[in-house]
Amino acid sequence: MASKTLKIAAIPGDGTGPEVTAEAMKVLAAVAKLEGFTYDVETLDWGGDRYIKTGEIIPEGGLDLLRTKDAIFLGAIGHPDVAPGILEKGLLLDLRFKLDQYINLRPVKLLPGVETPLAGRGPKDIDFVVVRENTEDLYCGVGGYLKKGTPDEVAVQQAVYTRKGCERCIRWAFDYTRKRNSPKKTLTLVAKTNVLTFGHDLWWRTFQEVAKDYPDVKTDYNHVDACCMWMVKNPDAYDVIVTTNMFGDIITDLGGILQGGMGVAAGANLNPDKGGVSMFEPMGGSAPKYTGQNVINPIAAINAMAMLLEHSGQPAAGKRIDKAVAHVTGTKMKSQAAGKMGYGTREVGDLVVAAL
Ligand code: IPM
Ligand code: MN
Repeated sequence: MASKTLKIAAIPGDGTGPEVTAEAMKVLAAVAKLEGFTYDVETLDWGGDRYIKTGEIIPEGGLDLLRTKDAIFLGAIGHPDVAPGILEKGLLLDLRFKLDQYINLRPVKLLPGVETPLAGRGPKDIDFVVVRENTEDLYCGVGGYLKKGTPDEVAVQQAVYTRKGCERCIRWAFDYTRKRNSPKKTLTLVAKTNVLTFGHDLWWRTFQEVAKDYPDVKTDYNHVDACCMWMVKNPDAYDVIVTTNMFGDIITDLGGILQGGMGVAAGANLNPDKGGVSMFEPMGGSAPKYTGQNVINPIAAINAMAMLLEHSGQPAAGKRIDKAVAHVTGTKMKSQAAGKMGYGTREVGDLVVAAL
């Protein structure tokens, strides 16, 4: 593994995506030298500009190309001249589905020096992980209209849950909780079993069954609405949360703000199966109004690169980046907000490289 060249596809994407991707790549170059591994990056011009020019989102043969890679790095998707939903569905969600990246892993970790909106809370209180199912639920696009555009219009949008889909996610979350081995060693299922009495009953029963294989992992259950309260009131109670796609989408934005905002939050779309290709992304979006000004925060992208390395056979390099980032947030940066960091985008990248 260690002697093999790590093959990465980079999709810098739209808006500030290319700027933050450049900083993540700078950090990759530095850490590869220090840790002694080789890598190769193929940069793809997929995104809003290409779509406007060619009408194509994922070009012919694009998926097969990605399947030859060890990992994908995605900068940001979202273009002011493309209607909302087109690129999100045609690129981000399409890749998640077609590459069967069934785990969306979202660490919620408050780094040193980073401000959280929760009064009186610090890094020791906010350090948990959300494991979000990433291929089912309301995201399947199952549904339709009846009498569209009339006063009698009916719109149906269905949530799809399969035994295979929830079981593989729940099992992965148990394994992850075991490996993480925190003093709490607790996996909390977040769902809405009191209302979604079919789909979330399937999740509940599967969770109970799989738990039998992990007697060393404690289990808990929260309804999603209560979870939102507890995340604010007692974030320190959580270790690992496993949840459905739609609820996971919502609570991970809440988590993102608890950890200091979109400037730092990163996520992984994992296909953990043999031969699976995973994708790593900062959560901030394309932030068009900051494009090209050297003001966007690259920390989230650098954190995404750390996750990429951790999950692609270079865990020591990932940890090394984590440490360097904590040093930079803890001792250098004034804020994690765009334009208020006390440094430009490129300078923050340089600081992380120096701290490696
Ligand atoms: C996320 C994003 C996406 C999602 C959007 C851009 C489709 O919000 O990764 O959380 O809803 O999954
Ligand atoms: Mn989201």
